[in-house]
Formats: sequence, C-alpha cells, structure tokens
Amino acid sequence: MKIKTTFVTLLATAALVPTFAIAQTNGKLKVGLMLPYTGTFASLGNAIENGFKLYVAEQGGKIAGREVEFVKVDDESDPSKATDNVNKLVKRDNVDVLIGSVHSGVAMAMAKVAKDSGTLLIVPNAGADAVTGPMCATNIYRSSFSNWQPGYAMGEVMAKKGIKKVATITWKYAAGDESVKGFKEAFEKGGGTVVKELSLPFPNVEFQALLTDIAASKPDAVFTFFAGGGAVKFVKDYAAAGLNKTIPLYGSGFLTDGNLEAQGADAEGIFTALHYADSLNVAKDKSFRLAYAKTYKLQPDVYAVQGYDAAQILGIGLNAVKGDVSKKAEFAKAVEAAKIDSPRGVFTLSKAHNPVQDFYLRKVVGKENKYEGIASKGLTDPARGCKM
Ligand code: BEZ
Repeated sequence: MKIKTTFVTLLATAALVPTFAIAQTNGKLKVGLMLPYTGTFASLGNAIENGFKLYVAEQGGKIAGREVEFVKVDDESDPSKATDNVNKLVKRDNVDVLIGSVHSGVAMAMAKVAKDSGTLLIVPNAGADAVTGPMCATNIYRSSFSNWQPGYAMGEVMAKKGIKKVATITWKYAAGDESVKGFKEAFEKGGGTVVKELSLPFPNVEFQALLTDIAASKPDAVFTFFAGGGAVKFVKDYAAAGLNKTIPLYGSGFLTDGNLEAQGADAEGIFTALHYADSLNVAKDKSFRLAYAKTYKLQPDVYAVQGYDAAQILGIGLNAVKGDVSKKAEFAKAVEAAKIDSPRGVFTLSKAHNPVQDFYLRKVVGKENKYEGIASKGLTDPARGCKM
C-alpha cells in the first residue's frame, strides 16, 4: 500500500514538473506595480506607470514572449503600510516581478521582502542609498538613482561656482537626509560650508517658519530636496517670501521636474542637477518624447523615463533567460553587461545594480528644465555596505 502511494505521488510530481516549468516561461508575466497613486507623489507614480507601459506596448504587450498582466497597489507613500502591501503582491497575487516604489521608506520595505522571498524587484524611483548599499542583492535593481547621486553632483557644481555658505532644507526622511549628505560630502570637499540644516517631517508643507530662519541666517545660497506636490508649494512659498530675489535656490532636479506648469514664473532661473533634462540631444530621447506625447497627450518627465527604463531592464534580463524569472544569476549577468539605451543617454548598472550615469546641470527657462552642461560625468554611487 505504502509503495503504491509513493509511486502515485511520484507520478503526480513528475507530471507537475513540466507544467510548472512551462508556466514559468510561457504563462502570463505578472507585474506588481506598487506605486503612489494618491498624495504628494501621485503624479510621479502615474508617470512611472505610463513609462513602463509604453515600453511594454512597444514590445507588442509581451516581454520575452510572455504576455504582461499588471496588478496594482496604491502604496500612498506610506512606509507603515508598505510591508503588508508588498506581501499581498508576493504571497496573495504571486507576482513574478515587483516594480516600486517612489518613496525611499516604502522601497526599503520592498527591498527587505524581495531579499527574503527572492522575488525580482526593480526600483523605478526611490533613491534610498541602502537599496543598493547594505540591502543589495542579485534580484534587486534600480533604474533611477541613489539619493547620494544628485546631491553629490550639485555639491560639486556649487563648490566650483565659488559659493561658500549654504543652508539646506528638506523633508526629514531617507531621501532628504541622504540628498543633503551627498551634497555636503562634495560641497565641503570643494571648500564650502553648510551653515544651517533645516527640515520638516514628510509630507508637511508648512514652510513659513523655516523660510524666516533662512532669511535671518543670510547664506550665499540654499540647497534643497523636495519633490512632487510639496516641491510645487516650496518653490511658490520661497518666491512669495521674496527669497528668490536675494538667496539663490538650488536643488536636486526633483524640485522642478514635472512641476513647471504648476510652479510657473516662481521657478524661473532655478538651477538643479539630475540625470535627465528637457533639451537633451539624445536620439532615443527624441523618439521617446514623441511616442509618450502621442500616447498620453502629456510631456514626459524623469519619472516616466525611469519607468520606461525599469521595463527595459526587465526586458533585457528576461530575454536572456527566455522568460524564466527563477534564473536570477543569468538574469543578473545579462543586465550587468548591458548598455541601456535610455532617453537620458546610455547608462550601465554598477555591480550593486544602481545606474552609473551622467548628471546634468539644468536651469529653468520658461516651461523647460533646460540642459546647461554636465554636472558630473559617469557618476557612480559608492554603494557603501553592499557585499555582492
Ligand atoms: C525618494 O523618496 O526616494 C524620492 C521621492 C521623490 C523623488 C525622489 C526621491
């Protein structure tokens, strides 16, 4: 009886193996989009989804021959809900790949679950240094930047301009803290001093008391990290306080990217550093912008580019493994060797899977983040703490 049961079990298992293998490479590819669709980063989440879907549409709706199916979660940029949200995608919906998120705190929770479960994760925005630092892993990738990168690039620019005393202002969470840290590292190396570090909790926008503090400390310039709806309010409040006439405002490019319609004349002349700009002379950017505008009746921004490139990374890796997401080492080998033809310009991924890319100096002119030159060429995140 026992022998018979074992034989039946073996037969059943043998019958299951090929079916499972076929399902992994030929069935629908389930993509879990965990992005903010409400709150101060809602427009960033939508742009990422648009960019990702544009690439999928260009491939005829399939990646590596697998039809793409989306499962969406609004993460509300709330780290306290992030672990539950990502676990739903992994355990309940059984997604093949996680795409997310925008907020650094949410992305860190996603990276923890991805690392523990082995699920493939591509981060299309959040810059949390830890994701490609101590949390780095074979199955974790980023199509965007580390928080250190744009801050560092702007620190180099401002020090070279001869600016001596700077006040910083940002939200108190990983993205703000790490942007300022990157900025300080380069700015102090170049001879500058940070005379005041101001912050307020995310996503608060009550800037008045902090602006009064800036006016009283009379720095030569201000460096800032804000993004989305909060960045619109900050630029408008800075101008309303008259500070744009006396103390030049600089920032990582999230301050103005995707925000110029709403910021209007109050953003005119602001210098920022970012891995994208509006008037790049890049062939891929021209075709991308045309296709994006035609599809969505909107101009793309850096978030749309990062979404598009997250899908490109997925395509490169999955093509190399013929759609089999379980082949993580081969997936990684293909992506690590790739030159990714991005609208931002060609970039590669570091050993820690963070983009090695040029940072551009941009100036707001009318409704454009106009390219002014290279702020930092082929800037590589130091990936501190990554053991891979
Ligand atoms: C972040 O939380 O990492 C982030 C959010 C918006 C823009 C850039 C970075």
